[in-house]
Amino acid sequence: MPTGAQLKALLKSLEEGDDQRLYSVALQMAAHEAHLGHGKLATDLRKLIDSIRGKQRSVVEHQHRLPTPLAQPRGELAGLLSVTYPDVRLIDVILPKDLEKRVRRVLHEHRQDAKLRSHGLFPRSKLLLVGPPGSGKTMTARALAGELRVPLFSIMLDGLITKFMGETAAKLRLVFDAMRRTQGVYLFDEFDAIGGQRTFSNDVGEVRRILNSFLSLLEEMDPSSLVVAATNHPELLDRALSRRFDDVLDYDFPSIDLAKRALRGRFSTLDTSQVNWDAVASLSAGLSYAEIIKACDDAAKAAILADRDAIDTDQLRASIEERKRAKSQSAAG
Ligand SMILES: Nc1ncnc2c1ncn2[C@@H]1O[C@H](COP(=O)(O)OP(=O)(O)O)[C@@H](O)[C@H]1O
Ligand SMILES: [Mg+2]
Repeated sequence: MPTGAQLKALLKSLEEGDDQRLYSVALQMAAHEAHLGHGKLATDLRKLIDSIRGKQRSVVEHQHRLPTPLAQPRGELAGLLSVTYPDVRLIDVILPKDLEKRVRRVLHEHRQDAKLRSHGLFPRSKLLLVGPPGSGKTMTARALAGELRVPLFSIMLDGLITKFMGETAAKLRLVFDAMRRTQGVYLFDEFDAIGGQRTFSNDVGEVRRILNSFLSLLEEMDPSSLVVAATNHPELLDRALSRRFDDVLDYDFPSIDLAKRALRGRFSTLDTSQVNWDAVASLSAGLSYAEIIKACDDAAKAAILADRDAIDTDQLRASIEERKRAKSQSAAG
């Protein structure tokens, strides 16, 4: 059953017509039920919320096609942010020790928000995640939301960036305004699209202005939310930019040891007692976490479909080799 406080928050959002907050409260209630072990109820609630959101969004899209669209900040926001409620935990993300420590510090500071504020301090809330694809940047954003039990809002850059600077700045402002109302993790994936020196536009001055408006909004943002900007292309980012974040976190492909952890952790129902982990881990050098996990899943599927209940080293080797070939081909092509 919802607590009185949750019910009150829900009704208040309804009264104020604040849909984002309403969804957020409803999702918090779903998470609460999941926490109490009421998995079915939690799933039903989330499905209901998704379905209501879906309907709202199609109404909004319809309105946008009308010749004179109404000014609808709520509606517009729906086209700029997509919300999920991840249940990923930090322990699921395999990271080198020092990086994990820095991510934990972010969580710790947010959990102790009130204590810090009572001394005029704020939790670190602006993170820049840099590193190659498949290294866990998006997953970290999901884990931050999962750990803090807040929604993950992914900013849809194609919705955000328009040909007209004035519009893009106004849309950015909408997103930052939402942070004030709804606590969450706000993920700017492919951040180089905004922060990059080469972007959709050839007009360098225009790109600068978008970046500047992002930076000034970042400066004033409410630190009870988290902004996570992620990029695969550090070389596109302006150097001065990294100073504006509280933390710049560097992601990379796994070391042999971490690859071993990723490999070992992937098989839950199959017997792996015959696998030589050291051998397959060294073979996987040069693959990302995402690719290693895919290779594991390939090997697991092959075993299951051949009605075997064990993975052996050769089978896993073959799947890793296949991923490596696919990778070198796509790099060459
Ligand atoms: N560090 C990691 N630890 C565990 N799994 C990972 C890690 N990095 C990537 N993965 C796996 O690969 C998938 C894609 O990774 P993702 O976080 O989207 O990479 P990125 O955002 O850095 O491109 C994840 O959903 C997860 O299954
Ligand atoms: Mg990503």
